[in-house]
Parts: sequence; structure tokens; C-alpha cells
Amino acid sequence: MTIRYLLRPEKPVVFCLAIAGFIIGGVLISSFIQPADKSFLCSLAGVKARETADYATTPIQLQAIVHYATSRVTPQQSFPEINVTFGVLKTLSPCNFLVFGLGHDSLMWSSLNPHGTTLFLEEDPKWVQAVLKDAPTLHAQTVQYRTQLKEADYLLSTYKTEPHCSPNKAYLRGNNQCKLALTTLPDEVYDKEWDLIMIDAPRGYFPEAPGRMAAIFSAAVMARGRKGSGVTHVFLHDVDRKVEKAFAAEFLCRKYLVKSVGRLWHFEIPPASDRETHSGDWFC
Ligand SMILES: C[S@@+](CC[C@H](N)C(=O)[O-])C[C@H]1O[C@@H](n2cnc3c(N)ncnc32)[C@H](O)[C@@H]1O
Repeated sequence: MTIRYLLRPEKPVVFCLAIAGFIIGGVLISSFIQPADKSFLCSLAGVKARETADYATTPIQLQAIVHYATSRVTPQQSFPEINVTFGVLKTLSPCNFLVFGLGHDSLMWSSLNPHGTTLFLEEDPKWVQAVLKDAPTLHAQTVQYRTQLKEADYLLSTYKTEPHCSPNKAYLRGNNQCKLALTTLPDEVYDKEWDLIMIDAPRGYFPEAPGRMAAIFSAAVMARGRKGSGVTHVFLHDVDRKVEKAFAAEFLCRKYLVKSVGRLWHFEIPPASDRETHSGDWFC
């Protein structure tokens, strides 16, 4: 096919197609020989770069590798227990992960949720400082509890007399009437929907310790209030203890318990809007 043949007026369509072909071919060839940022294909390259970034190692993951490779102190949860949460993070991350307690496992949890939000709530300000000194990129906030472990039985037997603790009325921010509600958490905690909530704190092994009663109650309120699709995954550690067991049965509900490994229970709690409401059932 010659140029003269193409330029014949009776072949306008062929002419246009040929010109378009020359232009597209020229752009494609120049895009391959020009620097990538000027390329016609730069939008495609951008998509590819973003996909690669999703799988690229994050700084906190690199820090975690060095930390755990050089530390003799390991997390308190066992490998099979950690694996339960890891399994959920593998399917949901990047997601919103709220962790009660700052400890030797914190760098691990943050690293397993790259590009997600992992927030740690810790009762002891000195412990927050000590942990953040070595791992300043962790996102941790101090929390004040209004309960003591020794009040657990009393709180469990009397909370139903306080309407502000009832499942249909309970809220957290500023709910001072309900002693089980965590009322002064950072706004971020109330404003976000948490896909996973790990309860491995506060301390609950001596009478004056805060105990996990309020953390369990508040996790149940957050899970019930979920507006987004899907369930809230709640993980509770130390379920060999009486208080954790009793408060889990009351607020997280046996019917939502999906896994029990070692001293860890995993609940999948649907939002209250998905459930039939029976006024006599309270939380479960
Ligand atoms: C039962 S521990 C769980 C810690 C975490 N799961 C881990 O593997 O390290 C919960 C609480 O104990 C306290 N804690 C843990 N390790 C501590 C330490 N070395 N020094 C002071 N307090 C500590 C913190 O208040 C923390 O929130």
C-alpha cells in the first residue's frame, strides 16, 4: 500500500485510519523510549506502582523484623492464639484494628495491618512512654478506667438497673451514668468503625487493677453500633479467668463465639440493626 494510494480522495476512511495508526504508533514508540514519568503509559504505570506499593514492605514491618530478630522477649500470646487474629487480618487488612493494651506484641499487630489503622489503648502512661521510646511509630493512646477488678461481681449483677447500660440505649462518649462504658476515649475511637477489636488489657489479675469489664462492655457497644457491612471481630485473651469468662458470656455472647484457641476467644458480632430485638434478651 503506497502513500499515493492512501491519499486518493475516494478512500477517506482508509486515509483517516492510516493517519490515526501512524499517530498512535508514534506515541507508543516514543512512550517506550522516553522517561517513564513522561510516558503516555504513565497512568498505567501509576496503577502498577500503587499495586506494587500495596505489597511493598512498610517501615514498621522492617522495624518489626529487626526488633523480633534481636529481642529475647516475645509476645505473651502463643503462636496458635496469634494465628487466629492473623488469619482474620490476612483477609481484612488494610482495616481498622483497635487493641486494648500495649505490649511486646504491638509491633507485630501494626505490621500485620500495613496501610491500615492500628490503635493501641493503654492504661499505664509510663508504659506508653517506655514502649514508644523504642517504637515511636506505634499509634498509642492512654485510657483511664473507672472500674476495679474487685467490683466485677457487683457491676455484673447491677448494670441492668441502669437504663444507660441497656443495649438499646447504651453509648460510650460521655455516658457517665453507665460505669461499664468507657466515656473518655480519644475521639478517633468513637468516630471510627473498628473491624477488629483485641482485648488483652487492662490488667485484671489483682483486686485494684481496672479489670477488663469496661473494655468488654465497650467492645460490645461498638460492635452493635456498626453501620458498615459485615461483623466486628472481637478477640478476648485470658478467658481462663472468671471475670473475662462471665463478662464475655454477658456482653459478647456465646452464640457469636466462632473460635476458641488456648486462652483466646474469637467472636463475630453482627450489628444490632441486623438482629431481631427482644427487650428481655439484653446483650445476648
Ligand atoms: C496482659 S498484658 C498483655 C500484653 C501483651 N499482650 C504482650 O504480649 O505483651 C496487658 C497489660 O500489661 C501491662 N504490661 C505488659 N507488659 C508490661 C511491662 N513489661 N511492664 C509494665 N507493664 C506491662 C500493660 O499495662 C498492658 O496493657
